[in-house]
Amino acid sequence: MSKGTYYITTPIYYPSSKLHIGHTYTTVAADAMARFKRLTGYDVKFLTGTDEHGQKLQMAAQEKGMQPKEYIDEIVVGIKKLWETLEISYDIFIRTTDDYHKRRVQKIFQKLYDKGDIYKGEYKGWYCTPCEAFWTESQIVEGKCPDCSRSVEMTKEEAYFFRLSKYQGELLKLFEENPEFLEPVSRKNEMVNNFLRPGLEDLCISRTSFDWGIPVPIDEKHVIYVWLDALSNYATALGFPEDVEGDYKKYWPADVHLVGKEIVRFHTIIWPAMLLALGEPVPKKVFGHGWILLEGGKMSKSKGNVVDPVVLAERYGVDALKYFLLREYSFGQDGVFTNEVLLNRINSDLANDLGNLVSRTIAMIDKYNGGIIPKPKQEGEFDEDLKGIAINISTKLEERMNKLDYSNALEEIWKLVRRTNKYIDETAPWVLARDTANKDRLDTVLYNLSDSIRIISVLIQPFMHTTTGKIWKQLGIDHGEGTQWEDTFIFGKLPSGVKVQKQDPMFPRIDVAKELEDLEATLLPKEEKLELKPEISIDDFAKVDIKVGEVLACEKHPKADKLLVFKVKIGPETRQVVSGIAKHFEPKDLIGRKVLVVANLKPVILRGIESNGMLLTAELGDKLVLLSADIGTGANIS
Ligand code: ME8
Ligand code: MG
Repeated sequence: MSKGTYYITTPIYYPSSKLHIGHTYTTVAADAMARFKRLTGYDVKFLTGTDEHGQKLQMAAQEKGMQPKEYIDEIVVGIKKLWETLEISYDIFIRTTDDYHKRRVQKIFQKLYDKGDIYKGEYKGWYCTPCEAFWTESQIVEGKCPDCSRSVEMTKEEAYFFRLSKYQGELLKLFEENPEFLEPVSRKNEMVNNFLRPGLEDLCISRTSFDWGIPVPIDEKHVIYVWLDALSNYATALGFPEDVEGDYKKYWPADVHLVGKEIVRFHTIIWPAMLLALGEPVPKKVFGHGWILLEGGKMSKSKGNVVDPVVLAERYGVDALKYFLLREYSFGQDGVFTNEVLLNRINSDLANDLGNLVSRTIAMIDKYNGGIIPKPKQEGEFDEDLKGIAINISTKLEERMNKLDYSNALEEIWKLVRRTNKYIDETAPWVLARDTANKDRLDTVLYNLSDSIRIISVLIQPFMHTTTGKIWKQLGIDHGEGTQWEDTFIFGKLPSGVKVQKQDPMFPRIDVAKELEDLEATLLPKEEKLELKPEISIDDFAKVDIKVGEVLACEKHPKADKLLVFKVKIGPETRQVVSGIAKHFEPKDLIGRKVLVVANLKPVILRGIESNGMLLTAELGDKLVLLSADIGTGANIS
């Protein structure tokens, strides 16, 4: 029965408490494709998840005074909830902190090591923490990360290396012999000309300056480089390398990895090289989609200019939001988001074209045939043209989808939507209804309209399945009555004699000017709400031991520009404490300050320096306050 298997993945997301509309883009696209392949008869596996290790997350947790896992767990709940809101039909949600993944990554490391593709050396070069990426001197641009333009740090540590350079020839061959391996083509040229041809350097794949990662199996003071860990997820989720006879055998290699353009390099150079080294097949395709930008540039949490997908889904519906994302932007290219393009797109394509088609048709069946779908009786002008277009859309849709050309795939369906609306104007049922002699012709027109809507309802299902359900309800049909993919190639599958059910408009027309004002007003105050972590009990709080200390010394951390290193005198002890407040204070201003210290916090190593305790701080707007002890002049704290 099944046409074969289809394995599709999104990247695994960095846990971030505020996923914006740009983040949802990859997942919405993957979801539509997974649903399309299921509809057309494939056995689909759709993978998503979270990428939970690395320095960036360890530091973020530290700033919140939390353990990394505890910090991440909360965020992952939020991410899963977002995917639930957007009705994302994933089959597997992998977390890189899952035990099975950690074990399998260690086995992958061991295999590469046993093969001689991993060796020990010393890494000296630049590191971009936000991207978790290593860069050479020649790659950085004016001292900044070439990908994100943020500051890079000089890093020097003992490390394990993967012999990436050894695979340069095979990778070039892969690109040359498989034009579909990386799309769009422009990205392929970038990889080949900017990275592969100039030559690959071996890749540093372990770190020692922090410990939030999967331990290197042969050397536990190292953790595995987060990208090696993360990329492996596509295979570990299927059982590799422990259990290769089940899902791995069935679904690997992936049919497509969908990724944003900034991470194409990891997916088309490092990942296939790892697979080549492991003797495993490489993915059939990596598609690097464009970015959704705001008028002022990139969306970013730190700029506070993010667009909240939940707010938009609440106001206009999940279907409208998904339709908009896939129809408005060309998948391979960047696009600019504004509220106005969103609202105009909803009005023109959904309220006017699709919504009106359905509500006009149902209203006419009500009025002219007592709400019963009539039997077609008398062919007439325009029928052949309408039917010819209707039964050919599925083939065109499938061709577009196979090219991941979502926008034109939807445009194909909308050609039928618009053709069907035009058929109403051409046949003018209200004119036919004036003379009972035209009843047979009127019945046929009403039937053809309904059957064309049936075909449309099935074709839009992968993109907006709630709308599909609403249309079926109005046409009085159930799943299985002319609603299979095969039924979209045939005209006349809709049963007649069924009663239609008039419903509220599926996509009410939006007053754009008014809505734009409302949107601005709604989106802003949200930010003003106090954001709090979950409630804790007095017992939780009682575990915290707070002592007053005096700052004896304070210096910048030699390797991290966010961190300060303190010597704090607490009673008989002098403690070393590292705190992430460098952005807010000058070290010299803090000497002599009486500070509040969490004195029983488990010690951690932060970028190579041990921290024994934590200074209490509090947020004041976007500033940070260092809590001080008001103990009066001359009080003796030692
Ligand atoms: O990169 N427009 O995760 P991530 C379009 N953990 N897409 C956007 C976007 C925007 N404005 N902003 C983000 C990672 N994305 C790694 C992946 S995979 C082994 C590890 C997309 O949370 C981005 O391109 O930073 C990517 O596809 C996805 O959101 C997750 O990004
Ligand atoms: Mg990113």
